[in-house]
Amino acid sequence: MDSSAIFAVTAIASAIGGLALWAVQRSSKSKEPTFPSLPKWPLLGNILDYADASFTKRINSYPTPVWFSLPGFMGPILLVHDPDQARYVSSKAVSSRIVFGEPKLTTLFGGYESIFGATGKEHKRLRVLSMKAVSKNAMKQQFPLLQDLARETLENMARNPKAETQGISCLPHFQKLAFNAICIFMAGGDEAQLNQLVGLYDDFIDISHGFKAMFLPPFLEYFNGGLKAKAFEAQARILTKVSEITNERRCAMEDGNIYSDALSSLIEARDENGSSLSDRDIGFMFLVLCGAGFETTSMQLTTIFYFITNMVSNTDLEALQQEVDSFGELSESNLSQSPILNAFVKESLRIFNVAPFVIRIATEDFTLDGVNVPANSLFAAFHERGSLIEGGEAFELKRYLGDPSFDKDEFMPFGTGERRCLGFQLAMLEIKIVIAELLRGFVATKGVGKAKHVHVGTRLIESPVCIRPK
Ligand code: HEM
Repeated sequence: MDSSAIFAVTAIASAIGGLALWAVQRSSKSKEPTFPSLPKWPLLGNILDYADASFTKRINSYPTPVWFSLPGFMGPILLVHDPDQARYVSSKAVSSRIVFGEPKLTTLFGGYESIFGATGKEHKRLRVLSMKAVSKNAMKQQFPLLQDLARETLENMARNPKAETQGISCLPHFQKLAFNAICIFMAGGDEAQLNQLVGLYDDFIDISHGFKAMFLPPFLEYFNGGLKAKAFEAQARILTKVSEITNERRCAMEDGNIYSDALSSLIEARDENGSSLSDRDIGFMFLVLCGAGFETTSMQLTTIFYFITNMVSNTDLEALQQEVDSFGELSESNLSQSPILNAFVKESLRIFNVAPFVIRIATEDFTLDGVNVPANSLFAAFHERGSLIEGGEAFELKRYLGDPSFDKDEFMPFGTGERRCLGFQLAMLEIKIVIAELLRGFVATKGVGKAKHVHVGTRLIESPVCIRPK
């Protein structure tokens, strides 16, 4: 089943769930509505809104905060889109994020055991233990491998016979790239181990499909070929393989071998009590990094290629090209000191973000601008700034090049606070390398065909891209 079919079924299932919820609420004869601004038909109304690609464009028409409903979530969600409110709730210590719906939905990525589902002290412990592994310095070590990966991906794209005239879809190429980049980051210090991780791609895809099926009612498992069951089998294979690799690596490190990748940092990491991550923790960490870094980076890169071939002005592209040409050899340091490339990526993330809001759960009651938010309720902090600011849909590099009229801090593409994206350094580096390699060695232009918006929780805009070597 492809993702739009899964979405359609999810929407219908959620609508049925919503109606059931509505019926339960009615039958409980509660005179005092807990969530006053929910539509009369819970879920259904908002599903139709949300499934429409222009949802984020109309977000301004909603009050903030407002009780809302989203597909895949059975309860009401407090939607917040004012920048100060969004920053406040995202950084709140009382809030701990539920990544995609209920933590039990993330069982494929470790659920309560992993950084996705863990809350409070356990979440903090897992973050402390993984901090060094995801540092900027850790990324630097893997730069040459990431650069080769970007170049090979673009060459592969250009090799497709359709790339010359009609144009191709970038997404499958960037999905492979995003997965391989995480493998490089994890085990790039040992070629054989890296190849073993790369070989887990098909298993990860099974997990990814199975995860989407987690939102569906159990009886649909019979009709969709057992997506959930296949995903759990794939999860077991990945955990076993990562555990074997981790074991092997531990032994090699004990023998005095030194590695510079995330796997060795995760093995070495100790918290304040001296405790370390188990092989299972590390297995789930790999799954979480793939779960969080696969769709996000690949969809965002695909959207960026849409911008490059459809929206960005020649002046902006020339400025970017000049900066990239001035680098000489590409390196991590010239990419991190590249004001125009930096502005380019941030402007893309600002206009259309793969994850326009983050969803958290309140771990205690709080009040936001007079609205009572009971403990255990969900809230979504909307942070994309494309349509929320005047003239915000235009692609303008100057916003991130010192334009005083633009408040850069309004926008949080990777979230903020204790749940801030763990992989943002890797994501930024990956995206920058691909754009730099594109401008150094290839020409990308608009292909034949209409743009499509995909909006299934995460989002992208895509149109066919022609790509050829310079
Ligand atoms: C363009 C790419 C990406 C975007 C836009 C993005 C965005 C986000 C956002 C908005 C959050 C939630 C933050 C919050 O709740 O405040 C998040 C969490 C997370 N991201 Fe990313 N991300 C991207 C790529 C990656 C990559 C490549 C990785 C790993 C390799 C990654 C790993 C994570 C993890 C582990 C979390 C959960 C952190 C926690 O709960 O403590 N992300 N990301």
